[in-house]
Amino acid sequence: MHKLVCAALLPVLLILWWSKPAISSASGGPRYRSIFSFGDSFADTGNNPAVFGWYSVFDPVTRPPYGTSFFGRPTGRNGDGRLIIDFIAENLGLPYVPPTLAHNGSFRRGANFAVGAATALDAGFFHERDIPGGASKFPLNTSLGVQLEWFESMKPTLCRTARECKKFFSRSLFLVGEFGVNDYHFSFQRKTVQEVRSFVPHVIATISIAIERLIKHGARSLVVPGVIPSGCSPPILTKFTNAPPAAYNSETGCLTAHNELGLHHNTLLQAELDRLQAKHRNVRIMYADFFGPIMEMVESPHKFEDVLMVCCGGPGRYGLNSTVPCGDAAATTCPYPSSRLYWDGVHLTEAANRHVADVWLGEINSFTGVSRKQGTKGPCRLGRHKI
Ligand SMILES: *[C@@H]1O[C@H](CO)[C@@H](O)[C@H](O)[C@H]1NC(C)=O
Ligand SMILES: *[C@@H]1O[C@H](CO)[C@@H](O)[C@H](O)[C@H]1NC(C)=O
Ligand SMILES: *[C@@H]1O[C@H](CO)[C@@H](O)[C@H](O)[C@H]1NC(C)=O
Repeated sequence: MHKLVCAALLPVLLILWWSKPAISSASGGPRYRSIFSFGDSFADTGNNPAVFGWYSVFDPVTRPPYGTSFFGRPTGRNGDGRLIIDFIAENLGLPYVPPTLAHNGSFRRGANFAVGAATALDAGFFHERDIPGGASKFPLNTSLGVQLEWFESMKPTLCRTARECKKFFSRSLFLVGEFGVNDYHFSFQRKTVQEVRSFVPHVIATISIAIERLIKHGARSLVVPGVIPSGCSPPILTKFTNAPPAAYNSETGCLTAHNELGLHHNTLLQAELDRLQAKHRNVRIMYADFFGPIMEMVESPHKFEDVLMVCCGGPGRYGLNSTVPCGDAAATTCPYPSSRLYWDGVHLTEAANRHVADVWLGEINSFTGVSRKQGTKGPCRLGRHKI
């Protein structure tokens, strides 16, 4: 099966190898002049307080200890410090990507439309199915399609003629995601993993449509992350805390079925990116592996202590307790966030984000066929992981 995964990936890799980079740094100048980002809390640099405010949803990230490891104050990021996108911006020599709903100024160097809790699919898809059910207001109206509308409304302030816009966006890096984690995590409240599996093709199709829409606007460089191993995610582990022993991988302690769902999503996503790459030869579509780097950290117990325990939260087996969220006065924070993988639940610590960013930057910064070929280790390495 692992061989199959690698074989299936081969066309993607060959296409990546053959496709010419959209932008060359041969001149030594900056490769990208701006970053445009879409996504959820893994990428949100400060939009969620605005959106959660509109919907009167409690938002703990506006309180300490969010931002304690870097920035020194809550910034609206779901973490103790920098996110993956922040490390990417730093590496590319660009400003931190301003959140569009919270920044009063220019977006010519980048704009971040990502919002915590955002889904790929429109909110109606879930509300029609009573997901997550009860009195929940989630998912809010912040899907990938809505974020694209925000982008299209902003476009006239960035560039004027079609020609000028194409040129402007050809020099931008587009981060499309991660999307899918919230689609699945909300759905687990009401649906079995098998039922949720049937949503995957819809999620992939929605991401694909968004990519083509961005290419139409002139995007030439797109990074499209896959999903995390949800079966290792503390909120999922907490929700299914009474799962039978056979449901867990005995070495990692992760829930096998939830991780398999993530691998399924990532396999379909890569096949779709392969198709899009073949169709748009002058565009560079990069798959960013989110699953592999997290599994790597889960599997290296020497790297992080209590690897499935969150750093900030309330009493409970995984350090998570729905009545005492991180940001609550009664919550506790571990003394060294950088020694932990998970920060407050699904979100990673800055230390873990840095590790993931390093992997993604390896792909973003690889321009020659040789270095791109090294990337083959990434996706194929996936097959080795004990999910
Ligand atoms: C945004 O900035 C402009 C000029 O600096 C200022 O006049 C305006 O009041 C600001 N708007 C908000 C909502 O802060
Ligand atoms: C969702 O947001 C979009 C963009 O802001 C808006 O056009 C649309 O009417 C909203 N839909 C709902 C159901 O609120
Ligand atoms: C969650 O926290 C509350 C309040 O501290 C506590 O009573 C409860 O036992 C905790 N739940 C678990 C599962 O530990």
